[in-house]
Amino acid sequence: MNSKAELLLQIENNVKRCRKCRLCQEAQNAVPGEGNIDAEIVFIGEAPGATEDQTGRPFVGRAGALLERMLVEIGLKRSDVWIGNIIKHRPPKNRDPLPDEIHACQPYLEMQLKILQPKLIVTLGRFSMNYFYADGKISRDHGRLIKADDYNVFPVYHPAAALRNSEFARALLADIKKIPDVLEEINGIVKEKAKADEPIAKGQIGLGI
Ligand code: URA
Repeated sequence: MNSKAELLLQIENNVKRCRKCRLCQEAQNAVPGEGNIDAEIVFIGEAPGATEDQTGRPFVGRAGALLERMLVEIGLKRSDVWIGNIIKHRPPKNRDPLPDEIHACQPYLEMQLKILQPKLIVTLGRFSMNYFYADGKISRDHGRLIKADDYNVFPVYHPAAALRNSEFARALLADIKKIPDVLEEINGIVKEKAKADEPIAKGQIGLGI
């Protein structure tokens, strides 16, 4: 059987060869995503910007630097988490991704998440949140844990928005600081569920004696 790392590498190679939408025509590099493949937390952004396009790595520009500084506040380094995007090639002039581009790219992130099996998905910005939760509204839902399909999703403002607006920056930091408690809550739910799913021990069947 292929290891997690091998499966993720296969996806990475497919992303690099991808010609399923127009975005590959102008992009310099694909940005498949990177990080700790055993991470409990993954961060999912929208699409690569200029620096990401040049380097082939997610969140390595100013927005990424801000995200890293905020992670330090909760004792995390970039290498502790996995970071990816919904869209793997940069949209020209950083325009919003189009619905057909999101649709074309969808299988890649879907497969990556199936392999990574994160406990918590922190969505960065509105696009990423709406990918998991179409009815979401970022001004209402940021900083709230949402169960979307099989995933625990925690929407926060995009760090690029935080760079432009100090109110968003404050909200982003406050939400990031909630992550350890959110993770604890999820771990508690998982433990409770495992307990409830435990087979009844011999001798306890029947009258419970
Ligand atoms: N913004 C994103 O949404 N993703 C990146 O990788 C960089 C900036």
